[in-house]
Parts: sequence; structure tokens; C-alpha cells
Amino acid sequence: MTDTTLTIRRPDDWHVHFRDGDMLNAVAPHTARQFGRAIVMPNLVPPVTTIQAASDYRDRIMAAVGAEAGFTPLMTCYLTDTADADEIAQGFKQGVFSAVKFYPAGATTNSDSGVTNVKNVYPVFERMQEIGMPLLVHGEVTDPETDIFDREALYIEQVLTPILNDFPSLKVVMEHVTTKDAVDFVRSQADSGRLAATITAHHLVINRTDIFKGGIHPHLYCLPIAKRELHRLALREAATSGEAAFFLGTDTAPHARHAKESACGCAGIFTAPTAIETYANVFDEENALDKLEAFASLNGPAFYGMAASEETITLSKTTWTPEETIETAAGDPVRIFGGGEELAWKLVD
Ligand code: DOR
Ligand code: ZN
Repeated sequence: MTDTTLTIRRPDDWHVHFRDGDMLNAVAPHTARQFGRAIVMPNLVPPVTTIQAASDYRDRIMAAVGAEAGFTPLMTCYLTDTADADEIAQGFKQGVFSAVKFYPAGATTNSDSGVTNVKNVYPVFERMQEIGMPLLVHGEVTDPETDIFDREALYIEQVLTPILNDFPSLKVVMEHVTTKDAVDFVRSQADSGRLAATITAHHLVINRTDIFKGGIHPHLYCLPIAKRELHRLALREAATSGEAAFFLGTDTAPHARHAKESACGCAGIFTAPTAIETYANVFDEENALDKLEAFASLNGPAFYGMAASEETITLSKTTWTPEETIETAAGDPVRIFGGGEELAWKLVD
């Protein structure tokens, strides 16, 4: 027992995968319990590319979490080679789309409809720059010959830098950064205020060796894949710095257990039930609990031009052990990151 508590403004999650149907119903309440808002990824099958599809999806999310959760899903548009700049701009104006998600085709789960050549979407970037609509990038090159551990650093050089140069006022979030290269790059552009990065909880905790410790751990496999220790340390330093360019995005990405524990397991780590506690633990370990609110509740809304939450949450330094899995109506459990292991912080409901 302990009397250490921490009260912060209610955090937001600037990167979540909710899926659809039974999975959506099972996972979304876990995010809504912790976070006031979440940027919802559009990589459904088929992807969310129209105002109508996003608005319908938003309704299904609201039905899954219930109005009493006081939760707001912020929808995104999945960018394709044939994306319609008018539809995207109209969706932003109507408040249906909060941002556009750019997956390079083939980079990750459900990215087959993604962009094959960035030049194809330059007219869309032009319009987004004009209207101040943020572009969220999955920052990995897709050349299959490129070593999986080098894909993020090369993306910065080959794709991100040209975009930033060609669109000098486009707002860009480099999602789920995993390398010191990305941290350094985002910092190098900090003065512009138009480039930011989200950092997941799991990338603050695991490095690539953990994926193979004593055997292969499919539940620690995600994209971008965790990198070596020096990168994890750089991410922890960036997240706990309080700097405006770094904010919380869990990339919580549920897959049924059988799809992860398979001869060809899917990428994605489900962190929603333990997310804010995992971050709190990291900030505590880094003696930076005073920076958690900036990272979790202030920097994100400031970047997106939204007000910070007026609500608060309280975390207590209380040891507890989360369940190993959650159930879904389809009868297919989903493994929780850190499930079955002791956690030092707990969200007070
Ligand atoms: O690990 C990942 N899982 N990375 C992504 O970019 C997509 C996500 C998913 O949708 O499962
Ligand atoms: Zn993601």
C-alpha cells in the first residue's frame, strides 16, 4: 500500500486501432476508460476513405463505448493513390476528418491500399497545407530488400524530408517513432512547430532483444519493430523531456491471439487496458512524473489546435496485476501488453 497519487488532465491517445464489429466492441471501452479523445486509424478492410464511411464508423465507435464514457473519437482518412482532395478538405471542414493517414503501400497491417508513389498524393498535400490539416505518416520505407531495422531511418531521408521541403507549412506527425534517428530529426525541426511525433508505451519498455528472449514472443511484434536498446533510451528521454513535439500515441493494435501465435503472426500490440499505467511507470522510473501531463494531455491537443481536457484522472502508485487477455464476443481472446505481470501504477476509476 502507498499513498502516492498523481492527478493530471485527462489524457488523449493520438493513435489507436479500434477495428470493427466484435473486436471494436471489446477493445474501444478500454481506450475510452483512460482517454478523453483518440485519433482513430482508418486501416479497416476496406479502408476509411470517405466522409460517409468515417462518420458511420464514428457512430459504431460511439455505440461501442456508450455516450456516458465522455469519449470523442477523432476520425482519419486513409490516403490512397486516387484520394480525392475535395472529399478530404470537405471532411475536415465538416469536422468529420481530423487528419489524413499516409501508409506507404505494403508497410504494415491493411496497408495494401496505401500510397505507391508519394507524388501521386502531392495534390492532396497541397490542399491539406492550405487548410492546416495534419498529415500522419507511417514512417517506414517499403522496399522489401531494406533491412526491417533500417526502414524508419531511411524513410526520414527518402520520404519525410522531401515532403517537408516541398510543403513548408504542412503539419506532419511521424507516428510511433522507434529510433534515435527519428527523435533527433523531430528535434531538428522543433522550431517550425509543424513536425511532431507520437511515442507508444511499448516502445518505451521493450527493445528488439526482448522479442527473442528465451524464445520468440509474437505478442511483442509490431511495426515499426522495436529497435536496439540505444533507441529505446532515446525514446524514453524524448517522451519524458516534456518537449512540445513529443506526445502520447499508443498504437494499440489488437489482433486475436490465434492471429498472433501463428506461423506468420500479425504485427500489432494491444496496450489499451494498461496504457496510461505503463507510461506512468516509465515516467516514474525516469524521475519525470512531473512531465507526464505535458506528454499525455497537453502537447497533443496543442499540436492539433485543440483545447486540453478540463477533466482529470488520478493514478495511484499501487501494485496490481492486469488480466492476461480480454475476451471478445467472437470467442477469440486478445493478449494485453503487460498482462499477467505486476504493474506499479493503477488508474483510479
Ligand atoms: O504493428 C502494427 N499494427 N503497426 C501498424 O502500423 C498497424 C497495426 C495494425 O493495424 O495492426
Ligand atoms: Zn498504428
